[in-house]
Amino acid sequence: MKAVVVTRYKERPHIADVAEPIVGDGDVLIRVEAAGLNPLDQGIAMGGFAQILRYRLPVILGNELAGTVIRVGEQVHGFRPGDRVYSRPDAGRIGAFAERIAVGEADLALIPTAMRMEEAASLPLVALTAWQALIERANVQPGQKVLIHGGAGGFGSIAIQLAKHLGAEVATTASASNLDFVRGLGADTVVDYRGQDFEQLLHGYVIVIDSVGGENLEKSLRILKPGGMAIGIAGPPDPAFARDMRLNAVVRVAIGRLSSRVRRQANSLGVSYGFLFMRASGEQLSRITALVEAGAIRPIVGKTVAFDEIPDALAALKRGGKRGKVVATISPTEH
Ligand SMILES: NC(=O)c1ccc[n+]([C@@H]2O[C@H](COP(=O)([O-])OP(=O)(O)OC[C@H]3O[C@@H](n4cnc5c(N)ncnc54)[C@H](OP(=O)(O)O)[C@@H]3O)[C@@H](O)[C@H]2O)c1
Repeated sequence: MKAVVVTRYKERPHIADVAEPIVGDGDVLIRVEAAGLNPLDQGIAMGGFAQILRYRLPVILGNELAGTVIRVGEQVHGFRPGDRVYSRPDAGRIGAFAERIAVGEADLALIPTAMRMEEAASLPLVALTAWQALIERANVQPGQKVLIHGGAGGFGSIAIQLAKHLGAEVATTASASNLDFVRGLGADTVVDYRGQDFEQLLHGYVIVIDSVGGENLEKSLRILKPGGMAIGIAGPPDPAFARDMRLNAVVRVAIGRLSSRVRRQANSLGVSYGFLFMRASGEQLSRITALVEAGAIRPIVGKTVAFDEIPDALAALKRGGKRGKVVATISPTEH
């Protein structure tokens, strides 16, 4: 089957013929119809995660997908052939940029009723990240002030909607041309991050979700009220993450150092900093399906590309200039 692979880190991903996926007893074989593109794919291709996610090369890229179940392993009871499903596969078993993929049943959910595959494929990774940041980690309550950086991007456009659904008062940062767009997603306060300094405009926040890192994160700490929480999804990683990932002692120490400065700053301000690396969860994805069906969240697909265009589209992700997600059509449904 055709897939987008990385043979050597830092080389451009390319299309290759690869072996069919192996379907274990607890796995579901899916015909991939659409797959979402994420900065994570490009990060993996560049070797940025080589110390953390130890893939055997060549690796098939692609961290989220929507498609139709072809067959299920003997131990699978929740899905059957013909089901329309979506998934962020376990980080150790990626490979959504392929005609077929085997996914563990626990990482799968049915897609929202009547949703197009391209829309469904845009959701798993960013919606799970938003869920794990806002609900699991921060336990956002009605009326709380929440700042979500990069509101027009793949993550931000879903996180704003989820935070509003939870009843938060939401601020976001975006380019000037995206300010009306993020208002339309529900943001109460919008800041043009190129023309304005959010640190001068915002204060008293309970939660900040930072998807930018560096100085942006350090400033974010200063708009929190005492006891507030900054959650970084662009880094730096922290010791808790190194522990959860069961990294070896040397890597753990190195990772601890990466965030020591920002953790010290947070401490002195009486706030906290934690890194979040999202994980697969079919159970949470089912709850996201319910939220979409209830009208609380809508997918934002800014651009659709063909399978052959994935390598170029991945390289273009960091140039920005889009709203929401870029999604690739893989094997369109045959009618
Ligand atoms: N740790 C995790 O589990 C996890 C999960 C998901 C994503 N992430 C990370 O989160 C980051 C964003 O992901 P994404 O999928 O949303 O990417 P994306 O779709 O490319 O969106 C990035 C957004 O960031 C905005 N932006 C750029 N510079 C900014 C700045 N200085 N201040 C505020 N906003 C800025 C851009 O806004 P404009 O277009 O308006 O200029 C763009 O909308 C990436 O680094 C990704 O790897 C991590």
